[in-house]
Amino acid sequence: MKQDLIVILDLGSTQNTVIAREIRDLGVYSEIHPHDITVEELKGFDNVKGIVLNGGENRMVDGQAVEVRQELYELGYPMISIDYPQSKCEKQFDRLPSRDEWKKFIFEDCKAEANWNMKNFIEDQLELIRQQVGDKKVLLALSGGVDSSVVAAMLIKAIGQQLVCVHVNHGLMRKNESESVVKVFRDELHANLIYVDASERFLGKLENVADPEQKRKIIGSEFIRVFEEEARKLEGIDFLGQGTIYPDIIESGTKTAKMVKSHHNVGGLPEDLKFELVEPLKQLFKDEVRACGVELGLPHDMVYRQPFPGPGLGVRCLGAITRERLEAVRESDAILREEFAKAGLDKKVWQYFTVVPDFKSVGMKNHARVFEYMVIIRAINTIDAMTASIEKVDWEVLERITNRILAEVEHVNRVCYDMSPKPPATIEFE
Ligand code: XMP
Repeated sequence: MKQDLIVILDLGSTQNTVIAREIRDLGVYSEIHPHDITVEELKGFDNVKGIVLNGGENRMVDGQAVEVRQELYELGYPMISIDYPQSKCEKQFDRLPSRDEWKKFIFEDCKAEANWNMKNFIEDQLELIRQQVGDKKVLLALSGGVDSSVVAAMLIKAIGQQLVCVHVNHGLMRKNESESVVKVFRDELHANLIYVDASERFLGKLENVADPEQKRKIIGSEFIRVFEEEARKLEGIDFLGQGTIYPDIIESGTKTAKMVKSHHNVGGLPEDLKFELVEPLKQLFKDEVRACGVELGLPHDMVYRQPFPGPGLGVRCLGAITRERLEAVRESDAILREEFAKAGLDKKVWQYFTVVPDFKSVGMKNHARVFEYMVIIRAINTIDAMTASIEKVDWEVLERITNRILAEVEHVNRVCYDMSPKPPATIEFE
């Protein structure tokens, strides 16, 4: 391993990630591990320079306070504890250390070097992937989202043609999105890519289904079914690549942290299709994943694209999906994205998209009464998607977008702007 490592042991704090980020900000790699890690496990890591015992409000599990294994104190690593009065560390903090205190611990006590950077991280991961996979094959569901794209780029670099990517076009992708996945991965990075156009199949299953949860369930389970069918056609695959990132692991719950939400990427595959997982990004925060993608040579647009829900335009074509309205969502979304980019808003606004409801309103076109759909524009800013505020888009930009949508998108006679923050509204409509 090229990087020095500071290990944070989680004894029930909600501050683990804050600490990990603080240490990484100082240029030193850090990882969070469960409090009951064994000496053997710890010795299995390369370049451990020091340990942080991080206690906190969730240290009581089933009525008992959790402790680290006492043998850890004998190993001779520099150690500090935070909010863990029972620790045997010489240096104990009852609050988060200041930046200077961190620097003293990391660079003076642990003698760690500030050698955490993307180049070293990638080199380490390439080596680990090759060790894990050997000459076997890895399967990856490549959606074109940031995480799966970065994993794909990493695996292509590590094992080339031993990686088999499957891109399922569920017919609910944005304009040119599947085409760009094929262009970047098959044409430019020469990936072994299977492109499955399952649009008709998905749209068929979704016909006349208006309930949002039902729609999401159909899209999710159909996705797994299509992926499974492709996986069964292939032979000799032992591994499944996944774009799991650090927040996914934290949100799925650790031994002491409460579960926020269960996380599945391609979870839900049948029992007899068991793969060992390859998850090279599982220690990275989102911004680090993007930096990793850039370092691996992925296009800027792909790495910095805004979040896009798994069920795609399906949750923006409200109610029962029809081809007519789906096309209106796709075309209006493309116009919105183009005009936001021209106005420089693509770098400023967190998420922006269009929605087409399943009702019509009266209008006039060419001196005749028309009864057509409306497009709703939504543009929001947020830190963590838990709450969101609306972007105050410049009036002229909104007028330009409105005029283009009304002129270029069929079956639309009205454009509205959604003024609602989250809460009470959610970011998506369904
Ligand atoms: P809501 O609508 O809950 O959205 O305020 C919060 C953020 O999550 C995105 N979102 C999803 N992302 N799969 C995803 O990967 C999904 O099923 C999904 N649903 C919502 C949404 O776009 C927003 O950024």
